[in-house]
Amino acid sequence: MVIPPMTECMSFHDGNVTQDELDYYAQHTGGVGLFITAVAYVNELGKGFEGELSIADDKYLPGLKKLASAIQQNGTKAIIQIFSAGRMSSTAILRGQQPVSASAVKALRAGSETPRALTEPEIEETIEDFGAATKRAIDAGFDGVEIHGANTYLIQQFFSPNSNQRTDQWGGSFENRTKFPLAIIAKVHQVVAQYAKKPFIVGYRISPEEIEKPGITFEDTLKFVDILKDQPIDYLHVSMGDVWRKSLNDPKVTTPLNETIQQHLQGKVPMIVVGDVQTPQDAEKAADANFELIALGRQILREPQWVQKVEADDEKSIRYAISPADLDELGIKPPFLDILLALTGPNGIPLTTAQQVDRQDANAGLDHFLGGGE
Ligand SMILES: Cc1cc2nc3c(=O)[nH]c(=O)nc-3n(C[C@H](O)[C@H](O)[C@H](O)COP(=O)(O)O)c2cc1C
Repeated sequence: MVIPPMTECMSFHDGNVTQDELDYYAQHTGGVGLFITAVAYVNELGKGFEGELSIADDKYLPGLKKLASAIQQNGTKAIIQIFSAGRMSSTAILRGQQPVSASAVKALRAGSETPRALTEPEIEETIEDFGAATKRAIDAGFDGVEIHGANTYLIQQFFSPNSNQRTDQWGGSFENRTKFPLAIIAKVHQVVAQYAKKPFIVGYRISPEEIEKPGITFEDTLKFVDILKDQPIDYLHVSMGDVWRKSLNDPKVTTPLNETIQQHLQGKVPMIVVGDVQTPQDAEKAADANFELIALGRQILREPQWVQKVEADDEKSIRYAISPADLDELGIKPPFLDILLALTGPNGIPLTTAQQVDRQDANAGLDHFLGGGE
């Protein structure tokens, strides 16, 4: 069982780890095998949210060390997710700087800003920044990194024919659009080979489709998975809001996407599946389908002892709903609560009806967290 990355917006304004975050991680760890942190930005232009974790400088190391240790209880491995938000940021978050992307193409989302295209030297620097972030993760004592190639952020923006309309070696053909993600994997691998003194996990996360046209099709993703299976990665994490989801675009696809992706991996790379796993039966169904690793996102927020309770045959006491009175015990502070409320839908964290109604307007624009295409 895995805890997937969940941004909690509880870091300091400058990206430093807070005690609130340490408490939250400590409260939820110790049952699962892997705990993947909220995403951390690898350089200043990569910041995507206020209160986001940073791995962009050595000055963050003391906090990152505490974060790794807070997670590493009872054998749980601590993985830090690393990214650049690319065009999914704003001049406000970047303190006056324009967001960057593969091309100067705006996301189809209310309030999006037109980014500027990264220059070739900046692309090379960004790849180096992923390497430097990996070195910091090693130095901080993490057990691995997850490269965030999903949920519409910079790496996906390079892979997508929608956001990548470059005409140089980093865009155009399918091969050119895979160059940036593959260069990052190669860089991360090189840093691990050079600096890690014990086994260090490298995961990669994808979103299998986009809804824009042109956009990433499932066919593109399968071609990419065929390449990823031979890369130096230890797992592939498929970001979706439902483990059993079919195509967003093609109603003729009758097999869950995860099953087809797994076939393409040919047993070479284990998979993490995620999306609306709540009950032990949900997890069992995914395990019976031979998915190697199963992630519990929002449900572990409601029930931090989920794994321990299943192990102890105490499934009846698993909590599936929480109220505002539970938030302190769960380590969920106001900025985190705001994201959760914005996401509250059929699969969200049920809170009071009044609060749900109050927050309805905030719903727009956060569905990318759940791995829905854009
Ligand atoms: C509050 C919140 C924050 C999230 N932040 C991230 C993130 O930082 N990186 C990421 O790849 N996915 C993020 N996700 C997506 C989750 O990793 C996961 O894929 C999604 O919640 C579906 O799983 P679930 O149904 O078990 O919650 C976030 C989801 C939620 C609810």
